[in-house]
This record gives sequence, C-alpha cells and structure tokens, in this order.
Amino acid sequence: MARRRQLYEGKAKILFEGPEPGTLVQYFKDDATAFNAQKKGTITGKGVLNNRISEFLMMKLAEIGIPTHFVRRLNMREQLIKEVEIIPIEVVVRNIAAGSISTRLGIAEGTRLPRSIMEFYYKNDTLGDPMVAEEHITAFGWAMPQDMDDIIHMTLRINDFLTGLFLGVGITLVDFKVEFGRLWENEDMRIVLADEISPDNCRLWDTKTNEKMDKDRFRRDLGKVEEAYQEVAKRLGILPEAGNADMKGPEMMQ
Ligand code: TMP
Repeated sequence: MARRRQLYEGKAKILFEGPEPGTLVQYFKDDATAFNAQKKGTITGKGVLNNRISEFLMMKLAEIGIPTHFVRRLNMREQLIKEVEIIPIEVVVRNIAAGSISTRLGIAEGTRLPRSIMEFYYKNDTLGDPMVAEEHITAFGWAMPQDMDDIIHMTLRINDFLTGLFLGVGITLVDFKVEFGRLWENEDMRIVLADEISPDNCRLWDTKTNEKMDKDRFRRDLGKVEEAYQEVAKRLGILPEAGNADMKGPEMMQ
C-alpha cells in the first residue's frame, strides 16, 4: 500500500503529508519517553487512547471558541490536522504543585498553588527544554508580543475550561502543557492550539484518592499505566471499546 510521505517523527507522534495542501496526518505512537528521552518505553494502546482523548478535548475547546489545528479523526491512531508553524514554546500551567516546580522550589507535591502559574519552556531537546521568560521569547523572536497575548489569554481559558471538565468526571487537573502554532490563511495569520492534549502532557489525579492517572505512572514506575489512560478515556465517555461511544458525553461523578 502506498504510504504517505513522512515529514517528521517525534517521541510520541509522527506527522505525514496530508491529503490536501495545508493539512497533515498526525499519527499517535505507543512509544513513551521521559526526562528528555533518557527513559524510553511502550505503553500498549496509548496511541489509540491519546488520539481519542486529544480529539475529544480539542473539539470541546473549539466549542468554547479556542481555535485548534484539529480537523477530524481518521482512524484509531490518526487524525487530520491543519498544517501550522509550531511556535517553539511549551506553555505549562500549574494549579497544584507537582513535578519540576516541587523539586525546583521545594513545594510539597499536592500543595494547591495560591493561583494558577504559567511557565514557558523553550522547545530545544539539545538544551533540555530550558525554562524561559516572556522576555526571552519576544527578544529572540520566537513569538511576537501580540502572539504572546493571544497564547496567554487562550491558555488561561483552556485551564479554566479543562479544570471544570475534568472535575465533572472526578479528575483534578494538576498541571498541563500545551503548544501553539501559526496558521496561515492567505495573508492572515492566527495562533491556534496545536500538538495534543492527553495524559502524556497533563497531570490528572483522581479527585477522591489523588491517585495518579497520567504519564507520571510511567515516569515514576508506578505500574498500571495503560489502565490509567483507559480510565481517563472511560470517565470522559470515549473509550473506543465502549461500543457506540463515539458521541457519548462525559460520565458525571459526584
Ligand atoms: P514538569 O513538572 O515536569 O515541569 O511538567 C509539567 C507538565 O508539563 C506536566 O503535566 C507534564 C508536562 N510536560 C510535557 O508535556 N512535556 C515535557 O517535556 C515536560 C517536561 C512536561
């Protein structure tokens, strides 16, 4: 079978040429890495689940007016996306201390932060994705000041919306990472949400037990990694095996 031309292979996804100009096919792998790929592994079925979870969350975000690169899901592991120019910045929002903020600043994991904190990291594997300030981003031209205004505004809305959505299914959104891209339409440029939103790039804790339901189970060898991703999909009402679950909404929990 003729295979589409591969344009880029990342740690968890592959990008192929899309069926028409301005589109790409995003393929979700089961590969997992952590600590800048020093730790490598496979999470069976992760690609299928992340494809569905990211589709679901991006479609929900589009409903509240967040522009995204997502067009439609093509099959179990692939989605059609709009081709964008990725802004080389990872935007992290933290609601509760965990991971690097806990180690760097000595804040116990699980401490609710006085307010949501946004951080920026420069996407550069050789440098290990260093944390940067908005000053660096605009001074070095990675994004314009007006791009940053859009990114910050959208990211705050994403945080508020996803916090509520996850809370509704018994999950606490501890932190997450998003990426944005420039979408060119003729002479006009808009910033849109890109990449993926999944348990690979969110910290999701069960609201009642604080049990981890995200990639920290892989990073920290906690076991039951596949089960955690499945549980997130199940609570969102989108587990592929759940029969005719395509259009099912979230399962509400007390
Ligand atoms: P951190 O606590 O390791 O800085 O991670 C913050 C959030 O960002 C967490 O939800 C995991 C996510 N993240 C990524 O998606 N990619 C990365 O490369 C890193 C370091 C974190």
